[in-house]
Amino acid sequence: MILRSWLFVPGDSERKLAKGRENAADALILDLEDSVAKERQQFARETVRGFLQAQPDRARQRLWVRINPLDTEFALPDLAAVMAGAPDGIVLPKVYSAAEVTMLDHCLSALEAREGLARGSTKILSVATETAASLLTFHTYLNGVTDRLVAMTWGGEDLAAALGASDNRNPATGEYDDPYLVAKSLCLATARAIGAQPVGVVHVDFRDLAGLEADCHRDRRAGFVGKIAIHPDQSAVINRAFTPSDEEIAHARRVVEVFEKNPGLGTVGLEGRMLDMPHLKQARNLLALAEQVGAKG
Ligand code: COA
Ligand code: MG
Repeated sequence: MILRSWLFVPGDSERKLAKGRENAADALILDLEDSVAKERQQFARETVRGFLQAQPDRARQRLWVRINPLDTEFALPDLAAVMAGAPDGIVLPKVYSAAEVTMLDHCLSALEAREGLARGSTKILSVATETAASLLTFHTYLNGVTDRLVAMTWGGEDLAAALGASDNRNPATGEYDDPYLVAKSLCLATARAIGAQPVGVVHVDFRDLAGLEADCHRDRRAGFVGKIAIHPDQSAVINRAFTPSDEEIAHARRVVEVFEKNPGLGTVGLEGRMLDMPHLKQARNLLALAEQVGAKG
């Protein structure tokens, strides 16, 4: 199932959790990491567990949890607390390589057994670019990583801190500087190489919905299938941008049709443009995407 919008909700805010549940986001990420003050960690764990237990129906909106990084003392207590609520997945921040994903896989297997959950039912989204090392270890995901890893995203803020940057954007254009575009591209390529969903990075200026929309279209052109949100107003914009439009679907149908009417031809013309196999593949991908996201109505 393709998840288009993933809305972060601070795990210690009952008000925001309730608000998130009414929101159009395809998934909520109940956060136990950076949006929670360390004094509130235990309260946030219990609040998130209670929220998950009270929300067993996840058909319209999946409920994921972001835990603390595995190299901190918080991660295992986070997991031990929330698994009783059977989260749909765990968001793993600040990874160095696929090794942490493998470690999380093992922890989840043990906790699923404890909770009587099917082994492998808890999925993983890795935030794949928040450490300096992470930019050099993407190949480790290709060596047979767990099937739980269904989505990958990247981050520019923690990476900037890790790289010693004073800023991560070009002040003249507002566009990300080179290291962050490398992070984005490596995340996209790796996710596609292992059959995971590439998820676009958060648009931090949450009042700028036009900028968010442009950012979503840029991500979608590149191959991302969804985006992280931090504010409820962002979800509908993201859903719309990552849902194929009627015109796109109609065009894709015409592309498939023209190839079907000309069996044995590798190249055809349509509306004055040359089409070959990559165009047919793109058209089929778009129709498959439309079917998957259209199914939710
Ligand atoms: N999830 C659910 N509800 C949210 C929300 C979120 N992420 N962000 C805001 N809301 C709610 C607010 O509580 C408010 O509801 P209310 O009027 O009933 O109290 C409403 O939406 C409007 O919020 P607004 O006033 O526009 O924003 P804010 O100034 O209260 O909050 C942020 C701004 C950035 C603090 C907030 O959006 C937020 O907490 N975002 C998530 C941060 C996070 O998880 N970061 C970690 C990942 S990078
Ligand atoms: Mg962070």
